[in-house]
Amino acid sequence: MSLAIPPPPGATPARRERRPEFPDWRFAPNIGGHPDTYELENQAVDRAGHVLTAMRTVAPWAGRTLVDLGCGTGYWLRRYAGEAARVVGVEPDPALRPAAQLAADSLPAAEVLAGSAEHLPLADRSVDVVHARFAYFFPPGADAGLAEVLRVLRPGGRLVVVDNDYRWGEFAQLLAAAAPRPPLQTAAVVDAWWRERGAARHEVRSELRFASRADLASVLDIEFPAEVARDWLRRHPAATGLSYGYVLFAVTA
Ligand SMILES: C[S@@+](CC[C@H](N)C(=O)[O-])C[C@H]1O[C@@H](n2cnc3c(N)ncnc32)[C@H](O)[C@@H]1O
Repeated sequence: MSLAIPPPPGATPARRERRPEFPDWRFAPNIGGHPDTYELENQAVDRAGHVLTAMRTVAPWAGRTLVDLGCGTGYWLRRYAGEAARVVGVEPDPALRPAAQLAADSLPAAEVLAGSAEHLPLADRSVDVVHARFAYFFPPGADAGLAEVLRVLRPGGRLVVVDNDYRWGEFAQLLAAAAPRPPLQTAAVVDAWWRERGAARHEVRSELRFASRADLASVLDIEFPAEVARDWLRRHPAATGLSYGYVLFAVTA
């Protein structure tokens, strides 16, 4: 059974293509420009395992309906599909959706829909858990998406947003070296935005563990300016990974 709301009469695919599908879609240069390299980054997150464990603790999905909002190429769909009753990947980037669809095709009770945080093609109160991993929720200015997520969540359902911990870990140091504004300032804005909306905040101290130094180098290359990545690698000649702090923000409907 699909949870999707059928398109309104007259919204033929040809008509939809003539205007921007989702005005809130922000092209993600890392995954959008380099999907294969971003896959290596997801594998490095997965190898460490801490983020998925924390997400499961904050909002268990066994037997539930889970939406992966901004699912990209669908890397994480398979991690949810084993336990969830139903998994829906939502992705606004038309170039990424086919890969996500391919991932969903091999999974039980999984589907991928065109949509965005502000335009979820899902019925009111039809979902138990929404995950947004580095997708859309970059406060401030994310209220419309939050309202839309709260519309589709059942009472008691939960949104879990994965963001950077700008205060801890080697990845945060790289962010600081590359950021146009001080990361502590960003962290304060982000924390205050979520606090004002009643979110619970959970820190996860983890790492990116790569299969090889070449994989590490290629991922640093898509995440940071070349000189920042090169300098870090020079100062860490034997590294095949780096420490990474995350913050999960959880809002209950
Ligand atoms: C850094 S990628 C993360 C992809 C995926 N969550 C993962 O962890 O592999 C950010 C994703 O958010 C998507 N995105 C951009 N704007 C969005 C929006 N308004 N609503 C939902 N997703 C959005 C991008 O297309 C991209 O797939």
